[in-house]
Amino acid sequence: MKRHLLSAADLTRDDAELVLRTAEELRSLADRPIKKLPALRGRTVVNLFFEDSTRTRISFEAAAKRLSADVINFSAKGSSLSKGESLKDTALTLEAMGADAVVVRHGASGAPHRLAHSGWVRSSVVNAGDGTHEHPTQALLDAFTMWRHLGSLDGRRVAIVGDVLHSRVARSNALLLHTLGAEVTLVAPPTLFPVGIDTWGVETSYDLDAVLPKADVVMMLRVQRERMNASFFPTAREYSRRYGLDGKRMRTLQDHTIVMHPGPMVRGMEITADVADSDRSVIVEQVTNGVAVRMAVLYLLLSGAEGVAGADESENDA
Ligand code: NCD
Repeated sequence: MKRHLLSAADLTRDDAELVLRTAEELRSLADRPIKKLPALRGRTVVNLFFEDSTRTRISFEAAAKRLSADVINFSAKGSSLSKGESLKDTALTLEAMGADAVVVRHGASGAPHRLAHSGWVRSSVVNAGDGTHEHPTQALLDAFTMWRHLGSLDGRRVAIVGDVLHSRVARSNALLLHTLGAEVTLVAPPTLFPVGIDTWGVETSYDLDAVLPKADVVMMLRVQRERMNASFFPTAREYSRRYGLDGKRMRTLQDHTIVMHPGPMVRGMEITADVADSDRSVIVEQVTNGVAVRMAVLYLLLSGAEGVAGADESENDA
């Protein structure tokens, strides 16, 4: 692995598979009464969140603590400084505190990249979601969840459905799933595809009903109203009718097909409650798997040497 995890594109297939194998070993820890390993004792992980988050911040916090790292939660929301300055000043503070890893979520696309390559900090930087750009640990936990259910992702068909335009989850998943050999189809109304989607190396469709029967995985995305400054579809009801996953649509899926959602869900909008709570839904598992995957990422970035498995593919480059 490289020193930072900024984009799903930073991961080679070997890197990604090492994270998945390491996460598998670490996942068994969740079933033990004492959920802790000494691997990162004496290391400091800072959670730097400029944007609202519940599950991602808690997940990173749990992951770092289960590896015995010291965790500092730094919620920078509400700062009145201009963005560039506040990021730099914050970075210098973190550096002074001796952070080994900084997990950063920021509303501006590219902020983690800036932090990693500015020379302000010496720590590893992990992107926990930047604007509409990327969310690589979400893609890793999604791939891990698929892999546990379906085995190898080679040739598997993954449909990612909904607000692709505003979704860092969709972008990171498209990159990582491509690396792992899966075939991705993005499904959205024409207004919710980003410009340049043809360069993503994925299939696209406006027709959910045509895509569902062929999919091995259906990943529903939240409609990100907080990022919408215009009207992208006529009404919520019309959106749900064309792009929502309800019980009727779910019955057209193959028996083995799983339903995913990164959370937070808007029940009744992109997914109905009966689908979210059905046997096919692995949404709660995604949360559990998120901790194991983030443990693996922190472990591999900070411990430098071998994976827990004793593999030695990882190296620290500066
Ligand atoms: C996603 C995010 O923040 O990008 N959620 C998450 O990380 N749990 C997706 C979303 O907000 O819809």
